[in-house]
Amino acid sequence: MAITASLKLDDKEYPLPVIVGTEGEKAIDTRQLRAASGYIAFDQGYGNTGSCESQITFLDGDNGILRHRGYPIEQLARYSDYVETAYLIIYGELPNATQRKEFGLRLRKNAAVEMQMQKILEGFPTNASPMAMLSAMVSALPAYYPDLATNNFEKDLKNFDLAAAIAISKIRTMVAMIYRYTHGLPYMFPKQELPFAENFLHMMFSEPYQDYAAAPEVAKALNLVLLLHADHEQNCSTSTVRMVGSSAANLFTSISAGVNALSGPLHGGANVAVMQMLQSIHDEGDDGTRFIAAAKSGSKSNRLMGFGHAVYRNFDPRAKIIGDACDVVLKKLGISDPLLDIAKNLEQAALKDDYFVSRKLYPNVDFYSGIIMRAVGIPMNMFTTMFAIGRAPGYIANWKEVASNPKGRIYRPRQIYVGAQKRDYTTIDHRA
Ligand code: CMC
Repeated sequence: MAITASLKLDDKEYPLPVIVGTEGEKAIDTRQLRAASGYIAFDQGYGNTGSCESQITFLDGDNGILRHRGYPIEQLARYSDYVETAYLIIYGELPNATQRKEFGLRLRKNAAVEMQMQKILEGFPTNASPMAMLSAMVSALPAYYPDLATNNFEKDLKNFDLAAAIAISKIRTMVAMIYRYTHGLPYMFPKQELPFAENFLHMMFSEPYQDYAAAPEVAKALNLVLLLHADHEQNCSTSTVRMVGSSAANLFTSISAGVNALSGPLHGGANVAVMQMLQSIHDEGDDGTRFIAAAKSGSKSNRLMGFGHAVYRNFDPRAKIIGDACDVVLKKLGISDPLLDIAKNLEQAALKDDYFVSRKLYPNVDFYSGIIMRAVGIPMNMFTTMFAIGRAPGYIANWKEVASNPKGRIYRPRQIYVGAQKRDYTTIDHRA
């Protein structure tokens, strides 16, 4: 039997339909409320608002559950790899052998970035933010592939497979190019024979006459980091992709908006902020007490980076996987990183502190991901671009849902205006 809710306003009752998801999540459908009553639903920052129905990712923040297309993140992290998980997220099913091969081939064939794009990159100062460079390069993709980026859902969906492969594969190449450019190193072209993670490591670390041979542990660690970032439901950047995509903007343009949203320190930029925090604790010989005390002030600019999450209220399952992996990866690579010890001590101290406990603030994925990336050899200022490579499948799958929804509308929230009421214009000499 269909459940309905009802809202009583000024003695009038408004029945509101209830939507129930496949995992039992419930929502009150307020779409017709304004037309019927003149009221809108108010929810600053959309923290309690469902902006869409989606089949991609299920997240239960109270119980630390994350599943892509039904598959638990723990199983994907253990048995799958980034490319296979990307396929799953984008196409809804794990690929069979032929699909996996074809998808891999599309990624391999579309790895190289057009020579002209080097000029875009080289227009930036070498000390510019890598995320600014990345978003500019992704923004430029429609210019190189106008047939795949027509800003017409129907036409763009016809070329979706190719556009998706270009986005995933080239974003990875762009990140490697950004690294090489900002470090004054010659670009390394992708090698078709290499798997995804190994190819990235080659483009980052090979030298003109000396190929970088990735240790299997390094490629595996990188795969894990990318896989754990592959999608995360309606976060700030993915919702941005959906919002921009809802205007019928093409896939590349929508992703570049997501890359910009990702750059902020409260979102993807947190992985850099965590490492800066750990490094400064190390440099000062502190035990983290200063950061914990400052974080408790309630100021947004002093938060304990890598802690807390907009949705997880128990634990972030990705943090658990990556935290455990840190020990294994560092051991396998024979690295001892003092920042890992500092992170562990900080975590223990915060988890005993009433401020964090009472607010249900736990380490998130960014708390430990930087330690692994550092072990792999990725410099800190490139961390958020690594997040962007990882998140590409999520952006693509969400764009596809928007583009293929026959009942979709342009995203357009409303507001409650609290500014000045109507007043008459005065000339400058009559103003106070
Ligand atoms: N350090 C100190 N206090 C915090 C923190 C923190 N890291 N996070 C939240 N709080 C406080 C917050 O000020 C609020 O306090 P009060 O109740 O006294 O006003 C309380 O905890 C509840 O905050 P919230 O509603 O859980 O936080 P939010 O939903 O507004 O923000 C967040 C979520 C992730 C932006 C925030 O926790 C944060 O800024 N964390 C640090 C940055 C970070 O690590 N971001 C990466 C997120 S995971 C990767 C991704 O998906 O982007």
